[in-house]
Amino acid sequence: MKEEKQAILSVNNVVMDFKIGGKSILSKKKTLRALNDITFDLYKGEALAIVGESGCGKSTICRVAMRFYNPTSGTMTFENNDIHKLKARDLKYYRQKVQMIFQDPFSSLNPLHNIYYHLERPLKLYHPSDKVTMKKQMDEYLTLVGLVPPEEQGSKNPHQLSGGQRQRAYLARILSVGAEVIFADEPTSMLDVSIRLGILNLMNKLKKENNKSFIYITHDIATARYFADRIIVLYAGHMVEWGDVNKVIVNPKG
Ligand SMILES: Nc1ncnc2c1ncn2[C@@H]1O[C@H](COP(=O)(O)OP(=O)(O)OP(=O)(O)O)[C@@H](O)[C@H]1O
Ligand SMILES: [Mg+2]
Repeated sequence: MKEEKQAILSVNNVVMDFKIGGKSILSKKKTLRALNDITFDLYKGEALAIVGESGCGKSTICRVAMRFYNPTSGTMTFENNDIHKLKARDLKYYRQKVQMIFQDPFSSLNPLHNIYYHLERPLKLYHPSDKVTMKKQMDEYLTLVGLVPPEEQGSKNPHQLSGGQRQRAYLARILSVGAEVIFADEPTSMLDVSIRLGILNLMNKLKKENNKSFIYITHDIATARYFADRIIVLYAGHMVEWGDVNKVIVNPKG
C-alpha cells in the first residue's frame, strides 16, 4: 500500500516471529509468525485504520513500532530513518514524535499525580522554558483536548476524571511530548459507548487541524469508516485487504 507521496512512517515487508513453548525438555520450541510481509506507508495528517479479529497481529505492529521487538525481517522507517537502528539523539527525537495511546485509560496515568504534573514533566524534558510559559502551554493543551476549564481539570488526579477524560488527558500528555504520529490501539473500546464518539471527534480534530497522523487499531469497522482515510484488514498476520476506507468497506473482496 504505497503511493508516490512522501511518507512520514513507512513499513517495509515486516515479518515478526515469536518463539513459543519449549519450556520443558519434552516440548520443542515452535515459531509463531505474528506478522507476515506487512507493508504500508503513513502520510502526514492521515488516519490509517488497522482492523481484524483478535490475535491477527494488530498490537504487534504497534509494539514493533515502539521498539519492544526488532522485526525478524523487514524494516520500519520514520522520516526515512530505520526505527530499529536509531541511536542517542535520533532515538530521543523518535520517542518524542511517535507516541502510543492505549486501550486502558486507567493504567496510562500515574494515580499519585495530578494532570498538570503529567504535562509538566515532558515539557521540562523536551521543551524547557520558564514557569509562566509552561503553565500557559499546559493550559493550551488541556483546552485543545477539551479538558476545560484547564485550571480545574489540570489540578485533578486521574481518579477524579472519567475514562473519556483520562483518554483526553493522556492525549494532552503525548501532545506535550511532541507527538506527530500516534498509534491508537483500541483507544475507545473500554469507554462507555456514549463517550466514544467524543474521543474519535477529538482525534479527528487533531488530524485535520493539527496535522497529526494516526494508526487507528480497532475491531469496529463503523468507527474505522468514521475516522480513517485508509484501512488495512489483517488476517492471521497477513494484509488481506487495503485501500481507501470507503472502497474497502463498501466493496470488500470477498
Ligand atoms: N511476546 C509474544 N510472544 C509470543 N506470542 C506473541 C507475543 N505477542 C503476541 N503474540 C502472538 O501474536 C499474535 C498476534 O497478537 P496481537 O497481540 O498482535 O493480536 P491483536 O490483533 O492485537 O489481538 P487483539 O484484538 O485481541 O488485541 C497472537 O497469536 C499472539 O498470541
Ligand atoms: Mg491488540
